[in-house]
Amino acid sequence: MPATVITGIGELTTNDAESGTFGDAAVVFENERITWVGPASRAPAADEQVDVAGRAVLPGWVDSHTHLLFAGDRTAEFAARMAGEPYQAGGIAVTVEATREADDAQLAANLRAHLDEAAAQGTTCVETKTGYGLTVEDELRAAKIAAQNADEVTFLGAHLVPPGSAVEDYLDLVCGEMIEAVAPHVRWCDVFCEKGAFDAEQSRRVLAAAARHGLGLRVHGNQLGAGPGAQLAVELGAASVDHCTYLSESDVDALAGSDTVATLLPACDLSTRQPLPDARSLLDAGATVALASNCNPGSSYTSSMAFCVTTAVLQMRMSVAEAVRAATWGGARALRRETGDAAVGVLRPGARADLQVLDAPSTTWLAYRPGVPLTHAVWRRGSRVR
Ligand code: NIG
Repeated sequence: MPATVITGIGELTTNDAESGTFGDAAVVFENERITWVGPASRAPAADEQVDVAGRAVLPGWVDSHTHLLFAGDRTAEFAARMAGEPYQAGGIAVTVEATREADDAQLAANLRAHLDEAAAQGTTCVETKTGYGLTVEDELRAAKIAAQNADEVTFLGAHLVPPGSAVEDYLDLVCGEMIEAVAPHVRWCDVFCEKGAFDAEQSRRVLAAAARHGLGLRVHGNQLGAGPGAQLAVELGAASVDHCTYLSESDVDALAGSDTVATLLPACDLSTRQPLPDARSLLDAGATVALASNCNPGSSYTSSMAFCVTTAVLQMRMSVAEAVRAATWGGARALRRETGDAAVGVLRPGARADLQVLDAPSTTWLAYRPGVPLTHAVWRRGSRVR
């Protein structure tokens, strides 16, 4: 792959502690990796030069929480919600039915279409989950399809007890035959720890089985009400607890004193008419915050990370810099991919050449011009995808 130099960068956000954010910058990449970052006047020559004419450049979005292995549609459920019906996660069963009926080719095409849609908006690293199969066979095929297409794959057999199953029988299956089959294809295991899904002890059982299989841990917690998810995630050393819409002061303190990332999903809270998470308390306490889309057909059908950033700034009292960092470096940290060879969410030599150019002079425009499509160009692994 030829070396490319991007010049004329009006504002470069690197997320690198040494380089920070600066103007009049250039970035060079070759063979899928960044090779040089610095002032434009000192940029080395490359085979190809792209002048971005004063635009802002930043790492591609890292979307650390999506549910893209699905078929079917829940427009009617959404419309009913907008007419006043509450969100109770019961619609998951509707998607499970449609997903089981779809063949592998349909599921893969659906996944790829959503990944392409995200990439066109600047998302260059995506985590996605199983969780709409809920049988050994359906969870396994979802894991395999995800592993062929997404950067990171999470097993979410413990999404909901499928209709017709008893909870303890289903947990035996998830923690036995199902995780045994799926574990070779995934890096992470998640559990929906929430009233109406799995309680603390049931969630602990799933996460213990995951740890025995060598999987990293994640938790869906504190989405629809106060609950044990955040504390459980911290106690078990989970990489992230996702949603965090209803956190107590002690949950915030526990997260701030831990390595567990608080992943906030504001598009989901808006779409389910929940309050927005208290990002300010988390950040002020010293917790690490990520922003993700939670793209799924029920609670959050958007792949737009820019929408999440805009919402975080306009409605959650995050600064633009905090929100952009949470949607790039924060997501990478939630996936434990922010350091090392081929790191994502950061622009420094050695990191994966995942970057986006905004049709804007600075990232401030993400909030200043809400709803306006600002993606000008995107490179993923050094290849231009837009
Ligand atoms: O993260 N909370 C559980 N799972 C998804 C909801 C999926 C759905 O409603 O289909 C979520 O919001």
